Amino acid sequence: MVLLTGGAGYIGSHTCIELINSGYDVLIADDFSNSKPEAVRRLEEITGRKIPLVNIDVADKEAVEKLFNENEIDAVVHFAGYKAVGESVQFPLKYYRNNIDTALTILETMERHDVHNFIFSSSATVYGIPESVPLHEEMKTGCTNPYGFTKLMIEQILRDAAFANPKLSVVLLRYFNPIGAHESGRIGEDPNGIPNNLLPFITQVAVGKLPELGVFGNDYNTHDGTGVRDYIHVVDLAKGHVAAIGYAKENKGCEVFNLGTGTGYSVLDIVKAFEKVNNLKIPYTIKERRPGDIDECYADPKKAREKLHWTAEKTIEDMCRDSWNWQSHNQNGYE
Ligand code: WQD
Repeated sequence: MVLLTGGAGYIGSHTCIELINSGYDVLIADDFSNSKPEAVRRLEEITGRKIPLVNIDVADKEAVEKLFNENEIDAVVHFAGYKAVGESVQFPLKYYRNNIDTALTILETMERHDVHNFIFSSSATVYGIPESVPLHEEMKTGCTNPYGFTKLMIEQILRDAAFANPKLSVVLLRYFNPIGAHESGRIGEDPNGIPNNLLPFITQVAVGKLPELGVFGNDYNTHDGTGVRDYIHVVDLAKGHVAAIGYAKENKGCEVFNLGTGTGYSVLDIVKAFEKVNNLKIPYTIKERRPGDIDECYADPKKAREKLHWTAEKTIEDMCRDSWNWQSHNQNGYE
């Protein structure tokens, strides 16, 4: 059975579907601090399967011990963690306590129960301000915010744990910018409050919840002056996790992979693609740069292609169409 910590969240729920489609049994553990139980109900609707769900804080040692006692876990995909960059700057101790404690509790419990396969939800944010693009896995890391530092610190904890325990197999997945939604439109990104990220902000403008998009700066060193990122469809990202579990079962040690498309799009490229594919107008105004943002960031996806035999397949049009399909059918997310 594969344990998905934070499995009711945006990436976790999409990964749950792809794991079930690939024949795995899954168990979701989630405290619903940044997700809703309704998402799991919809997963059961989409897959036609009952999905075991445990409502716990995965930093809670007793609760996690009980979970491992009662279930035959043979791999963990660890999504549980706070992920808002701006919030992490405001409340660093909350981020370090939660993100590090959840990871350590899971790893200590795995060790006691002789469970060896651990897939970690990391982020391209660990590269900090890149010296050059595209980014490959051997490039220097360095963070610009506490959220990024929690990811980098957990990567280090995992490297050291894998070095000390030869039975452990760890895969670090550095996500670029996940967007889009399952083709059913029944699950998708459902941020609390005003969205920090570009696509949910755009879809909330499109559905009339927000008046217009603020484009954070158009004086970056990019083709049109707006920030360039590597947007990847969340379903492609989910499939990358299935490939990572297969890799973990065949290998030992700790391996890191970028999960990106290798193509960068600017904010205005995304706005234009979204408008075109959905036949909508997205009003926007150019605003000041957002502190901490970088000019451009996109992946060299070669290592995942060669060693995970995984490549992102969906287009930017698919991502924009699926994002809108989710939002237009769920104006208030899972409410
Ligand atoms: C994308 C681009 C903004 C909102 C962050 C985290 C990363 C991961 C993904 C968690 C940038 C611009 C955005 C808006 C805008 N999160 N933008 N107006 O900052 O690349 O990555 O989210 O895992 O770890 O660092 O993503 O979607 O916030 O921004 O102009 O209202 O859109 O300046 O160029 P980002 P984003």
